[in-house]
Amino acid sequence: MPDSTDRTDVMNLLRTVPLFSNLDDRHLKTLAQAAVDRTYNQGDLIVPQGEKGIGFYLIAEGQVRVEKAGTTVAILGPGQFFGEMALIYGATRSADVRAVGPTRCFVLFPWMFWGAVGEDPEALGVLLRETVRRLRHVEPGPED
Ligand code: CMP
Repeated sequence: MPDSTDRTDVMNLLRTVPLFSNLDDRHLKTLAQAAVDRTYNQGDLIVPQGEKGIGFYLIAEGQVRVEKAGTTVAILGPGQFFGEMALIYGATRSADVRAVGPTRCFVLFPWMFWGAVGEDPEALGVLLRETVRRLRHVEPGPED
């Protein structure tokens, strides 16, 4: 009988995400058990610009559209994340994030996120590099 606390599938998915790929099994298991599953329908507003929020979102399935003042600045898909800016900076959300179609995300809260990523220099590097790229509004280049 499947155990409802068995999050092996989530753990395996986290392992494929560059941000988390270096974490050891202990951290991956903690994250997998703590991550909150959320599903969204097409057009749902997941994160509203200007609102306070602390959740970090990892896209498991589907796509989201990142919009600033009605302009699309990015489309993100499985393995990519959003919500890191408010988490890092402690400010309001910098953009609207909407589900393009049916979408599933894992939501992590700061204490879980930092407990894992904060101990992994490789993960901090991935997070920093992607955040700076987003702030510079550069499209991913060939080296990305
Ligand atoms: P946050 O500000 O917490 O909430 C909105 C999110 O949209 C933000 O974190 C980023 O994850 C994401 N975001 C903002 N600007 C960009 C961008 N230029 N490219 C990709 N994602 C972005």
